[in-house]
Amino acid sequence: LDEPTCPFGPSPPAKAPHASQKSKKTKALCKRSRDQMIIDAGQKHFGAVVCKSCGMIYTAASPEDEAQHIQYHERFLEALRYVGWKKERIVAEFWDGKIVLILPSDPKYAIKKAEDVREIVDNELGFKQVLLSCPAKAKIYLFVSSEKMIVGCLVAEQIKQAFRVLSESGAVPSPPDPEDLQQQQQRAWRCSTDPEPAICGISRIWVLGPWRRKGIARRMVDVVRSTFMYGCYLSTEEIAFSDPTPDGKSFATKYCQTPNFLVYNFISNN
Ligand code: COA
Ligand code: ZN
Repeated sequence: LDEPTCPFGPSPPAKAPHASQKSKKTKALCKRSRDQMIIDAGQKHFGAVVCKSCGMIYTAASPEDEAQHIQYHERFLEALRYVGWKKERIVAEFWDGKIVLILPSDPKYAIKKAEDVREIVDNELGFKQVLLSCPAKAKIYLFVSSEKMIVGCLVAEQIKQAFRVLSESGAVPSPPDPEDLQQQQQRAWRCSTDPEPAICGISRIWVLGPWRRKGIARRMVDVVRSTFMYGCYLSTEEIAFSDPTPDGKSFATKYCQTPNFLVYNFISNN
């Protein structure tokens, strides 16, 4: 991270993706089980398990962990449940769901729903400190499945400039641990120091685990491009991604049809 020649180096650890948080917790749990904190009495589930719906890692054998999981799980599902409202702003409809846009001037109940979802997304993306440049202007797009569940969320904001991701080079010093090295290779990206004009920043983009790779993110970005600025369809040169995760990087590379897509909102090392 302290590489002096790197103007905008790898992302800060505070924004580590869920996966790395998971692996840390898994390691901690494994250590705990090595220390024989839990007795193996032939339980069905032993040690760390990952909940397929909410993604939480917990120890099935620990009542304390299980209780914590149930609490989180219910909050998670409640936040993603979409009841809807009369004047909802449907910006696209598909065979498997619809995209609803929430604007800052919308009624309180709509804003509250958007905030609940954003909390889940932020938790998964692991960011606490990267704030929206102007929350009062952010546009929130929710992908609602036919089963009335929010399975995708995109937060878009107005920006003035962004930086182009540079094609990968091998200049980052390699960590000794192969696992860390693999993670670094996945996460590291560098970008140009020359700003380029841009219009729309994708501050957050998230799709619920089991719904990934069904074109939900792609459809959300398509809709952002046609609705973000009245009367014009933004090109992929006018949109930028906020400090992309490895998933975000793969998606943006495919979506923009170039590994040199635009980014913004990252923490520079200089
Ligand atoms: N790895 C490799 N390629 C990927 C990818 C991944 N994880 N996710 C998307 N792509 C590429 C694929 O080429 C895909 O087309 P294909 O499925 O036909 O091969 C194309 O992008 C379109 O993907 P799409 O189905 O629209 O993306 P998605 O709905 O699965 O959502 C994310 C993508 C990034 C939003 C989702 O993986 C996610 O929520 N991740 C966790 C949160 C996160 O990291 N967000 C990014 C913040 S910058
Ligand atoms: Zn759960």
